Amino acid sequence: MRIALGADHAGSALKRTLIQRLEARGLLCDDFGTDSEISVDYPDYARRVAQAVAAGGADRGILICGTGIGMAIAANKVPGVRAALVGDLESARLCREHNDANVLALGARVTAPDTALAIADLFLATDYAGGRHQRRLDKIAALERLACATPTLEESQS
Ligand code: RB5
Repeated sequence: MRIALGADHAGSALKRTLIQRLEARGLLCDDFGTDSEISVDYPDYARRVAQAVAAGGADRGILICGTGIGMAIAANKVPGVRAALVGDLESARLCREHNDANVLALGARVTAPDTALAIADLFLATDYAGGRHQRRLDKIAALERLACATPTLEESQS
């Protein structure tokens, strides 16, 4: 499995720890930065990871910021991405089984490091259950197509 990882300054330390752990297990990690605690803008990193996942360059993405909220909001703007902000193990399992989430967002300032690592493990180990959930994912994809086809106010006036 190939995993794309990205973080802002609040999540870079946890990203480092997570990459060491995943690589030790033989997983391929593409690190999209940032690599320091110097302040950066989380949408820049969400975009790189989300686009890698949407384009098929990575099987899953993991994004880390202070709360995970900004990363999840930004990543979900990229068509094809289903990013889940997760702070507990049950949600880590269910976002895969029910939602086929392909990007995990973690909050380094609100989730204990050991918990965040366990969440990432479960997210990567859990398969999508399919079945009745597929109908719901199809409806999300339809919404996405609708949003992409809707002209902005400026476009509709030109
Ligand atoms: C950065 O201070 C912080 O806003 C960011 O890491 C994240 O929590 C945003 O959602």
